[in-house]
Amino acid sequence: MKINDYHRELNPEEIERGEHRDFVGGMWDEIGRLQFDFMVARGLKRDMRLLDIGCGSFRGGIHFVRYLKSGNYFGIDGNHSLIASGYEKEMIPSGLAEKLPPENLLVDADFAFSRFATTFHAALAVSVFTHLPLNHIRLCLINLSKCMAPGARFFATIFQCPEGRPVEDPLTHTPGGITTFSARDPYHYRVSDMARCTGDLPWTLQAIGDWGHPRAQRMIRFVRTS
Ligand SMILES: C[S@@+](CC[C@H](N)C(=O)[O-])C[C@H]1O[C@@H](n2cnc3c(N)ncnc32)[C@H](O)[C@@H]1O
Repeated sequence: MKINDYHRELNPEEIERGEHRDFVGGMWDEIGRLQFDFMVARGLKRDMRLLDIGCGSFRGGIHFVRYLKSGNYFGIDGNHSLIASGYEKEMIPSGLAEKLPPENLLVDADFAFSRFATTFHAALAVSVFTHLPLNHIRLCLINLSKCMAPGARFFATIFQCPEGRPVEDPLTHTPGGITTFSARDPYHYRVSDMARCTGDLPWTLQAIGDWGHPRAQRMIRFVRTS
């Protein structure tokens, strides 16, 4: 069973036509700026190392690379074509490629963050858990806990199912009109599902909720405990 459509690599013609922007969900400027403004408002500083999980073609990354000190942005994504097109069509034309060393980018769908061989002060996953089954989310949290120091924060978006509502029923979200499901992409979760994923892992969780996302994705904050 396919867990989402992001296994499909864009072909050179699609990349040439700039289709990477729509492939990661469109609203390029709005959602890119939204995630950047959110992280800065939540304390992201220029000298922090930021890990962008499911970075895609750098819809947010373009803003983070511009802002952070050279070499402090790290991106991981399972789809090679999205990283490659983002680098070629977004980073290079914006004059930002020299602030983003190639070794800071990783194509990997198993959350193998240790391959970066560093630790992160902050991490972000926008519109990624919305495409993933719970076991993948748990694996992400397990691996991330090993490369973030106590106190470091990880922000991730979900489509939220209210606690009392039958999770098995499709749910249409406002604004945006996206319909989500319990066992296929796009997925919805209860906050308690996220809490269960943290299990005995060194994370605490807080539901931030509405953060201005135009398609009603809600924000969860995970804080690495000691
Ligand atoms: C909707 S896009 C969002 C991309 C980016 N965060 C943004 O805001 O533009 C979802 C991204 O998650 C990536 N993704 C999905 N499953 C993944 C996995 N298991 N590991 C890493 N990336 C994954 C996809 O390839 C895609 O780039």
